[in-house]
Amino acid sequence: MNLLNNLVVATLPFVPKPIVGKVASRYIAGVTLTDAMNKVQHLNAQKAMATIDVLGEDVFTKEQSLQSRDESIAVLNEIEKLKLDSNLSVKLTSLGLKIDPQFCMENSLAIVAQANAHNNFVRIDMEDHTCTDDTLYVYRAVRERYSNVGIVIQSYLHRSVDDVRKLASEKALVRLCKGIYNEPPNVAIKDHVGIQRNFLKLLRILFEARCYVGIATHDDVLIDGAIEMINEYKMGPSQYEFQMLLGVREERRKQLISQGHRLRVYVPFGRDWYSYSVRRLKENPQMAGHVFKAMFGIGQ
Ligand code: FDA
Repeated sequence: MNLLNNLVVATLPFVPKPIVGKVASRYIAGVTLTDAMNKVQHLNAQKAMATIDVLGEDVFTKEQSLQSRDESIAVLNEIEKLKLDSNLSVKLTSLGLKIDPQFCMENSLAIVAQANAHNNFVRIDMEDHTCTDDTLYVYRAVRERYSNVGIVIQSYLHRSVDDVRKLASEKALVRLCKGIYNEPPNVAIKDHVGIQRNFLKLLRILFEARCYVGIATHDDVLIDGAIEMINEYKMGPSQYEFQMLLGVREERRKQLISQGHRLRVYVPFGRDWYSYSVRRLKENPQMAGHVFKAMFGIGQ
């Protein structure tokens, strides 16, 4: 099965887009804002909170960045209108980070200001290591003016211990995850256990500082380790939350909710679903089977 998965990963660029779409549809809410709202309504009914992401990254024109900004603002307005339990996640490269960090900051400020007007919250996702400094710069500039903004830290990065110590001293609202990008060894820890160990180390630093953490993982070792720490620090359910991606480990998600933990689901939607879907498929150990089934119409 491993060999087959590797083969599918290597050939994924040649798999017809509709097939990728079919297999990946569990990971994305759909293409339209209405699709996203329907999905969030469904999640809220299951006592899960949500964070909505308008798919898109690496935007290289100001027009596209402004369009992304407006789409994010429209999401916030719709959440408010429908009274949904959801906040917003944004990727700064979709708001012009690679064009001009200052321009990106203005776009981010506009989004966070709108969220603030609705008493809502914006999470700034973390992208590959070439974006880390600029992302933290924009985050801090926005955070100076608004408190309803949070950041993401990736436990695979060597630098993250220093970043987390600083963020903990600033009482930042941090989402902690492993990190999804394929980074070089001089930048990132490459072994699975090392990344897990660092995740729990960073979580402890944040808990020690009584920061509110979004514990973003589907890994049982990390979920169980986090629960042990939550008990050790006697933290109530309002002092942290678990976070998972749409379509991943739904049984564990339901179990955490039934045990009284707050849990938020990351709900991506939009026209740019393809690259996100490919990333998710590459992570999924059962991917080869799913892709082959979809290609040959088995069990669909
Ligand atoms: P791991 O990958 O080991 O997964 C644990 C288990 O979960 C697997 O064994 C499998 O059973 C299941 N699983 C995982 N992925 C699956 C899939 N696609 N399909 C089916 N089963 C799957 N990264 C980043 O760099 N910047 C960011 O801003 C974010 N933001 C973010 C938000 C949220 C809410 C989550 C949950 C994750 C992110 N990530 C992220 C992604 C994160 O860095 C990481 O790549 C993934 O969560 C996978 O790591 P896990 O800790 O889940 O472990």
